[in-house]
Amino acid sequence: MAITSYLITLFLLSLSLSSHSCLATCHVDDETGLLVFKLGIKSDPSGILSSWKRGTDCCTWNGVDCDATNKRVSSLSIYGQANDPNKYLSGTISTSLGKLVYLWGVYFLNTRNISGPFPKFLFSLPELRYVYIENNKLSGPLPINIGKLSGLQALSLEGNRFTGVIPSSILQLAQLTQLKLGKNLLSGPIPTGIGRLKNVTFLSLEHNQLSGKIPDVFSSFSDLMYLELSYNKLSGAIPLSISTLAPTLAFLKLGHNALTGNIPSYLGNFTKLDTLDLSSNFLTGIVPKTFKNLTKIFNLNLARNNFVDPFPEMFVRGIESLDLSYNNFNLIKIPKWVATSPIIYSLKLAGCGIKMRLDEFKPTKTYYYDYIDLSDNKISGSPITLLNRTDFLVGFWMSGNMLRFNMSSLIIPKMSQQLDLSRNLIIGNVPVSVVGLKKLNVSHNHLCGRLPVTKFPVEAFAWNDCLCGAPLIPCKF
Ligand SMILES: *[C@@H]1O[C@H](CO)[C@@H](O)[C@H](O)[C@H]1NC(C)=O
Ligand SMILES: *[C@@H]1O[C@H](CO)[C@@H](O)[C@H](O)[C@H]1NC(C)=O
Ligand SMILES: *[C@@H]1O[C@H](CO)[C@@H](O)[C@H](O)[C@H]1NC(C)=O
Ligand SMILES: *[C@@H]1O[C@H](CO)[C@@H](O)[C@H](O)[C@H]1NC(C)=O
Ligand SMILES: *[C@@H]1O[C@H](CO)[C@@H](O)[C@H](O)[C@H]1NC(C)=O
Ligand SMILES: *[C@@H]1O[C@H](CO)[C@@H](O)[C@H](O)[C@H]1NC(C)=O
Ligand SMILES: *[C@@H]1O[C@H](CO)[C@@H](O)[C@H](O)[C@H]1NC(C)=O
Repeated sequence: MAITSYLITLFLLSLSLSSHSCLATCHVDDETGLLVFKLGIKSDPSGILSSWKRGTDCCTWNGVDCDATNKRVSSLSIYGQANDPNKYLSGTISTSLGKLVYLWGVYFLNTRNISGPFPKFLFSLPELRYVYIENNKLSGPLPINIGKLSGLQALSLEGNRFTGVIPSSILQLAQLTQLKLGKNLLSGPIPTGIGRLKNVTFLSLEHNQLSGKIPDVFSSFSDLMYLELSYNKLSGAIPLSISTLAPTLAFLKLGHNALTGNIPSYLGNFTKLDTLDLSSNFLTGIVPKTFKNLTKIFNLNLARNNFVDPFPEMFVRGIESLDLSYNNFNLIKIPKWVATSPIIYSLKLAGCGIKMRLDEFKPTKTYYYDYIDLSDNKISGSPITLLNRTDFLVGFWMSGNMLRFNMSSLIIPKMSQQLDLSRNLIIGNVPVSVVGLKKLNVSHNHLCGRLPVTKFPVEAFAWNDCLCGAPLIPCKF
């Protein structure tokens, strides 16, 4: 018995050893396809492809994954690093990858410097499901027959230089759950056929030059969670069919377009809404009362439109970022629901008709505050108490108010980089503690005395009562 099991073990062992040595190299088509692709990569400074060597098992190469049963290459994942030029790849994508006929996933992320046209090899891969070619330099038009990739479940070409229109055949990609074409140079209208992509949960076309109306095609989407169309040239009203996304949509970003009309009141019914950005459009009217019901909203940006009072009292659990700047609001005070938010990091209420003393703004928690912009209001008093509580504040913009305090006693938070107190009524002199800032502006105040040695230009200090020393005129004392 013991001997039998010993023999079986030995047999199995030899079997696994021999099968291992038989498959020391992967399928010849996969190996060739990958090595010819490698030849097209002209520069690979960090050696991302250095393990790709003929005669070794390509299934063990960096970024290459094989199917466990047939040992054919199933996915190719090459990741650069967005901010590290040493991790960029330069070159083009060889059509030889079309030999990898079992490939279902292609991921080239942040390799930055891969150029050339839309990679045609994708059309020869019957198993293809996922394509993410993000942050590279692919250019030229998207192929008219892109709809032939009908097995695709995700297509991202975000952050390239594709031009021309979004082909209408895109409607044939009916299995898509993600479509990301943002940060390219695409123009023309959003094809109405996009309404046929019923399974889509994530749709982003931002930072292109798309024009015309947002097509009214959202009534067939039942799973859409993320819709981003910001930074285009879209015009017309927010289409009615968006209302059908109420149960699912968490992110709606339509900022920096040319949209007109009102905010539809049905948006208050979007129970999952986390982020709403309608900034920099030509929207008018009031912010609907139904916004009270957006209890889960964390990021709300309505800046730079033509909205008017009254702004509804919100019942948010906590807002993280709020920007209502430069509309036609007269908020008078910073709303209470803002001051009580425990997690706010960015508060921007510039040009909102606020007329309070800054000392009266006593946020419950200040730990997370990174940015406060209250420029162009009628805020009086002193920021000293507030700044003494916001240790991590990075930027503070208060220009164009009526602040009156002695700047000598200002405490500059230790993380601060930008401070704009221009166009106020500030007295005293400029404290030495400003030297650590990246940007400073205290012009148009009533400051006096010798300036500390800084790198800031004349304009940062101009139009005060009697400041002296470089970059202004020398002191007489
Ligand atoms: C990107 O590729 C081009 C040639 O295709 C090359 O001239 C350039 O130096 C590369 N840039 C980087 C950062 O690798
Ligand atoms: C798309 O949705 C349909 C029904 O809603 C479903 O049967 C199908 O499996 C989905 N496809 C994908 C890729 O999720
Ligand atoms: C919000 O939803 C409720 C029920 O789900 C509906 O009765 C109401 O009309 C909707 N409100 C708006 C403004 O669409
Ligand atoms: C908020 O929602 C509730 C029910 O979900 C509804 O009865 C109420 O009218 C809504 N309030 C506003 C201001 O829309
Ligand atoms: C700054 O805060 C500390 C406590 O955190 C307090 O002792 C001090 O008086 C404050 N200074 C000013 C000017 O408010
Ligand atoms: C500002 O405060 C400093 C230090 O407390 C003081 O010497 C100076 O006279 C004050 N300046 C004015 C204009 O009140
Ligand atoms: C400083 O502020 C003034 C008035 O707000 C503005 O005109 C000027 O351009 C600003 N200068 C710098 C260097 O930021």
